[in-house]
Amino acid sequence: MVVRVFVAGGSGVVGRHLVSQLVARGHQVTASTTSSAKLGRLQEQGAEAVLMDGLDAAAVGEAVARAHPDAIVNEMTALSEAHAGKPNMRRPERYFAITGRLRSDGTDHLLAAAEATGVSHMVAQSGALFNLTRQGGPVKTEQDPLEVPVGMKEISHLEEVVVKAGGAVLRYGTLYGPGTSDDQARFVRKRMFPLVGGGAGQLSFVHVEDAATATVLAIEERARGVFNIVDDEPATAREWLPYMAECMGARPPRRVPAWVARLLAGEMVVAMMTEGHGFSNSKAKAVLGWELRYPSWRQGFRHEYA
Ligand SMILES: NC(=O)c1ccc[n+]([C@@H]2O[C@H](COP(=O)([O-])OP(=O)(O)OC[C@H]3O[C@@H](n4cnc5c(N)ncnc54)[C@H](OP(=O)(O)O)[C@@H]3O)[C@@H](O)[C@H]2O)c1
Repeated sequence: MVVRVFVAGGSGVVGRHLVSQLVARGHQVTASTTSSAKLGRLQEQGAEAVLMDGLDAAAVGEAVARAHPDAIVNEMTALSEAHAGKPNMRRPERYFAITGRLRSDGTDHLLAAAEATGVSHMVAQSGALFNLTRQGGPVKTEQDPLEVPVGMKEISHLEEVVVKAGGAVLRYGTLYGPGTSDDQARFVRKRMFPLVGGGAGQLSFVHVEDAATATVLAIEERARGVFNIVDDEPATAREWLPYMAECMGARPPRRVPAWVARLLAGEMVVAMMTEGHGFSNSKAKAVLGWELRYPSWRQGFRHEYA
């Protein structure tokens, strides 16, 4: 069945892979950007392209009404330098400020537009980068509480209102692959991304193409509830970081004690590298029938960085 899909943030890192995959499966796509320079690329991908500021309720209402979709996907974040300035993890609340508003106000505007236009399904991006909760097993499921150092209020709001509206929340792991953070790769290559403390903190990764595939399934299946969209293998910093460097042909990362990293990079980075827990993807595989092209970051890093 052809689905008419409105992708808010269709020009973003997940959005652009999602638009291509939706078009390839025969769906009709309207995709938004805030930049007129990006309209042409979205059209070349086969989408109807629209300019929309997700923080402007009237603009969102108008864009959604005009597209009259069956489903809305919220892929809006403001994490690129163009929107958030240079990443500064010592001031994460500043770096994540607009993204927080897109998650709270932006989601509310999309839900209001959905209601006004009679759109019955929404899928929204959340995050499963790492979880600090001590509750539950070592690998966190959707049943365990989600604890992150910043942006919790907005993430909780997004998840609550989307689930309440009968939609799906997709907690993407740390993305890698085409279009994702070049900075991180550059720093690892230059040996400027050190291992902090014992490096026992876990991350969950997901290749951006696999994240887009899971999103297509969530739309087609009209999924409801929260899903961790991560690969099969949570990775400790002491495993993934030297492995990434090795794939790049770079020297192994330096090591710094946690107190030094706290001063240089801030609490969030220390928590991620020393205390974080990864996530389980069992629910997404079982309910969505999701099959990963890169079940482990080990294959994915080799493919992307070698
Ligand atoms: N889970 C993860 O690991 C994760 C998730 C998201 C992003 N990231 C990382 O963050 C970096 C930047 O991500 P990105 O390339 O997707 O860029 P981004 O700046 O986060 O933008 C994402 C999307 O949101 C749109 N957007 C931004 N502000 C908006 C607003 N006020 N109203 C409506 N739409 C708005 C952007 O449109 P425009 O065309 O106007 O820019 C774009 O389509 C990448 O390195 C990526 O890997 C990681």
